[in-house]
Amino acid sequence: MIIGACGQIGTELTLALRNRYGSDRIIASDIREGSQELMASGPFEILDATNYDALEGVVAHYEIDEVFLMAAMLSATAEKFPMRAWNLNMGSLFNVLNLAKEKKIGKVFWPSSIAVFGSSTQKENTTQCTIMEPSTVYGISKQAGERWCAYYFEKYGVDVRSVRYPGLISWKTLPGGGTTDYAVEIYHRALSEKKYTCFLKEDTRLPMMFMDDAIRASMELMNSSPAGLRIRSSYNLAAMSFSPREIAKSIQAHIPDFEIDYSPDFRQTIADSWPCSIDDSQARTDWGWKPEFDLTRTTKEMLENLKSSV
Ligand SMILES: NC(=O)c1ccc[n+]([C@@H]2O[C@H](COP(=O)([O-])OP(=O)(O)OC[C@H]3O[C@@H](n4cnc5c(N)ncnc54)[C@H](O)[C@@H]3O)[C@@H](O)[C@H]2O)c1
Repeated sequence: MIIGACGQIGTELTLALRNRYGSDRIIASDIREGSQELMASGPFEILDATNYDALEGVVAHYEIDEVFLMAAMLSATAEKFPMRAWNLNMGSLFNVLNLAKEKKIGKVFWPSSIAVFGSSTQKENTTQCTIMEPSTVYGISKQAGERWCAYYFEKYGVDVRSVRYPGLISWKTLPGGGTTDYAVEIYHRALSEKKYTCFLKEDTRLPMMFMDDAIRASMELMNSSPAGLRIRSSYNLAAMSFSPREIAKSIQAHIPDFEIDYSPDFRQTIADSWPCSIDDSQARTDWGWKPEFDLTRTTKEMLENLKSSV
């Protein structure tokens, strides 16, 4: 079952899992309905992930074995609604971890984020185990979540697996209120208006990943042998790092008259507290992670797919 199946990642994850394992074996759920493609692709339940009894009911009804918990409030929105973000991000995680502790489900995937790091963390090639002093509500909830995942694994034997996603770039579903959303919006505007005003400064380099890589990473981690998994908090995961100026340049290779300007807002402060690049060697060693998409390939995929989807 996917919880938060109608979001940026959940939509593509649900479709990919259904493609691999068959539609009827993958139950999508969310607090709201999703895209036409998602809703038509297989079973769907309206479900509030913070409601334990409702969650338990759906799990029992469909005899769910594995849960991908994708419901959360993201970094930029969470700064506006701190308590709602904390309650959703932590409440949903506890519900799913407790279902696993009670042996009602067997395996859990829960994504963390590069937001677990803060200004005191080394900026370049941020290592798996390092200083973590997040300054955002979202980052605090992800860091606490990581510690709880490790705790449930150690104390109760819960098989929980996690990656720290970087900013994710996709064309099927719009992003849901994060600090890296610009890296999706920019492609839409490049095609519709040939210009974009970016909410981050031109040289703000952040770790990013194309959605296909993120989905493959999540599925590979869930399918890997538990014996090799030495990290039960969350694995660093990386593919590429770039700045708004660099992504604009890669778009100009396809749309030469595309223009970008910059008007940084509150999200600049969040971005400034995050790493520029991530060392994901532990994921590569433990479960064979290897990214396939760099910026050039991502830009080509984004422009081609967005052009043909309008
Ligand atoms: N997108 C990124 O760049 C990124 C980066 C790092 C980590 N992540 C993490 O990946 C996960 C998924 O992110 P996303 O980008 O798909 O988010 P999103 O905001 O696009 O989707 C989240 C989904 O959760 C649903 N939801 C909200 N409250 C709910 C509730 N109470 N019960 C059930 N569903 C609820 C929303 O309706 C939405 O469809 C989150 O944990 C996020 O923190 C995302």
